[in-house]
Amino acid sequence: MGTPNGRWHWDGGFRPGLGWIQAGYGIDLGTANTVVAGVDGTLLLNEPSVMAVRADGDRKGQLVAVGGAAKALVGRTPIGMTTVRPLEDGVITDLQTARSFIVAILKRVKRQPWQVLPPQAVIGVPWGATELEKRALIEAVEEAGVGHVDLVPEPIAGALGSGLNPLETRARMVVDVGGGTAEVTAFCFGGILAARSCRTAGDEMTMALHQYLRVEHKMLVGELGAENLKMQLSRNGSGPHSLTAEGRDLASDRARTQELSVDELDAALRPVTDSIIQTLASCLQDMPAQAVADVMQDGVLVFGGGSLVGGFGHRLEEAFGFAVHQAERPLTCVAEGAAMCLRRPEIIKAFG
Ligand SMILES: Nc1ncnc2c1ncn2[C@@H]1O[C@H](COP(=O)(O)OP(=O)(O)OP(=O)(O)O)[C@@H](O)[C@H]1O
Ligand SMILES: [Mg+2]
Repeated sequence: MGTPNGRWHWDGGFRPGLGWIQAGYGIDLGTANTVVAGVDGTLLLNEPSVMAVRADGDRKGQLVAVGGAAKALVGRTPIGMTTVRPLEDGVITDLQTARSFIVAILKRVKRQPWQVLPPQAVIGVPWGATELEKRALIEAVEEAGVGHVDLVPEPIAGALGSGLNPLETRARMVVDVGGGTAEVTAFCFGGILAARSCRTAGDEMTMALHQYLRVEHKMLVGELGAENLKMQLSRNGSGPHSLTAEGRDLASDRARTQELSVDELDAALRPVTDSIIQTLASCLQDMPAQAVADVMQDGVLVFGGGSLVGGFGHRLEEAFGFAVHQAERPLTCVAEGAAMCLRRPEIIKAFG
């Protein structure tokens, strides 16, 4: 037993009558965030998927910071350092960088002295990841000291972590709006019915705000500044009708602030949400009629950080006429669902 986050959780070890029980993790290696959950769903780690490395000299590529500390350096990296995102659209592109990130980040998941067996893990992977990408992920996680690795599609893990049963005979649809990718997936009875994705998601929303301020208000904000503005917009709800951005004036190079109406920010984000709506429409077209009827009746489940952007659910409801259910824990349900798979081998068997 251990007490990260102040909650008791089961993390493997010796149990009278049962012997040595292996610890297990559910892992979501996202483009924006890496989340690790324990077998019982306890959150063990939630850090940005960012690393800071030396950019030149003899120590080029050497790790300087990882996770939250590395993300805080985005846009303010000292000379000789650079920040890198080791995963692109949820898969590994540069093996060496990704390996050092995964090894460094998983070291943060505290193991107890009595955990003698190497832990096992289930990792969420985007539906449609290639065999090569899957192998790279497994190898990198094994190198970090994990004994046995299984894979589960992220949409299935997210659904499971949000309380849906992917083995039931009713068709379900989930929309995962992450940092790099938005994925729409329909499944039923342990199989995928249809899946579509687009590369316009949360990070593209940040870029859209950045561009909007540059073009319309001749003002430059950093990547973290634009993301912060996006978060303020989602927290705003029915709050004030304007927000203040801080940045640098493009003409004078001086620091300045700019009042922005919520409506103009919504409009700046619209092309990104439109493209997700298009993806959802294509997915519905790929589905059998009975399955579409199930979705129209039950609605869709949305999760991933990008789904939190103000008015997202409402726009989907307007476009399709079905109910949109926001997951209770949109940022962690994939890792929690992957951890649940440790005890539900039938799900790995059906979808793995
Ligand atoms: N409250 C919020 N409002 C709006 N956007 C948010 C909020 N919280 C997080 N995000 C955005 O969500 C994105 C990250 O979401 P998430 O952690 O689900 O992505 P990921 O799983 O790492 O990425 P991917 O699934 O594409 O690999 C980022 O673009 C972040 O800015
Ligand atoms: Mg994700």
